[in-house]
Amino acid sequence: MTFKLLNQLKKQTPIVIAHRGASGYRPEHTIAGYELAIDMGADFIEPDLVITKDGVLIARHENEISGTTNVADKSEFASRKKTKIINGASIAGWFTEDFTLAELKKLRAKERIPKLRPQNTIYDGLFEIPTLQEIIDLVQRKSLEVGRTIGIYPETKYPSYFKSINLSLEDNLIAVLHENGYTGNQAPVFIQSFEVSNLKELSKKTDLPLVQLLSSTGKPYDFLLNGDIRTYTDLATVKGLKEIAEYAQCIGVNKNLIIPKDIHGKLQLPTSLVEDAHKASLLVHAWTFRNENEFLPVDFQNNPQKEYELFRNTGIDGLFSDYPDTALTI
Ligand code: G3P
Ligand code: CA
Repeated sequence: MTFKLLNQLKKQTPIVIAHRGASGYRPEHTIAGYELAIDMGADFIEPDLVITKDGVLIARHENEISGTTNVADKSEFASRKKTKIINGASIAGWFTEDFTLAELKKLRAKERIPKLRPQNTIYDGLFEIPTLQEIIDLVQRKSLEVGRTIGIYPETKYPSYFKSINLSLEDNLIAVLHENGYTGNQAPVFIQSFEVSNLKELSKKTDLPLVQLLSSTGKPYDFLLNGDIRTYTDLATVKGLKEIAEYAQCIGVNKNLIIPKDIHGKLQLPTSLVEDAHKASLLVHAWTFRNENEFLPVDFQNNPQKEYELFRNTGIDGLFSDYPDTALTI
């Protein structure tokens, strides 16, 4: 384990990772949302990454982009609408891999959840889809401006799917990060994935810290493809964590795996996951913290700070939040 990781394990205050930017305040995955998160004091910003037809990594949570852009309003792209099977689900819409970067740059972002966050719709139509390079340029410029190192926390989205259409994410991601000076296990970078095989591949190609994401249900999609019967729950056991520690330095977990909720949404006693992970020399970062009552446990309605306090006391090393300013009040 590196010095940096050991220090983080001892640190009491979890690092704050701006989930898709300051996505409580701006449409997700926009330069404006990332910049606001940095100005609020976030330690890391989180771009989810997909890829264009011409092989450029860009920030979107899905490769289907009608939920977060105005692509459906663009008559010039009407004929690009398709139905595809993505990770086993039939999805109709417009897909990044069918557009060049120049074409995608004609689109503008919009708020994903306008009913819950109507105040953010005033920004609809203003911001471009950013490339990974543009996000790195922002982070490096802002780090100099604010006088502290801002980290970047990219997630490889649908890695098996993109590999199957000859648009692999991994080599491209490493090349961009390495070219921009992010090398070695001390770099302010965490690379995350919900799949396992691409993290194992990455571990052979880079020393940058890797994060195995664990959902509270289901299984890694690559496990489904290669016939591995294990689930995320299996990976969260002592045995599973030991295996993860062979290729990753951190787990990024659904917070329900740390403090489960009952069928009424009330919080239960913490599990041993944080302690088990630390014993396996893994950091623990939990997702996703949001201010709206729709996302808060019934115990803490109108009081998101209480949820942060509770989770901080479990010993987590970091947390993903849509509201970095609220997260930083704990
Ligand atoms: O990447 C971890 C966290 O972001 C939760 O996943 O679905 O929001 O990308 P998601
Ligand atoms: Ca993510």
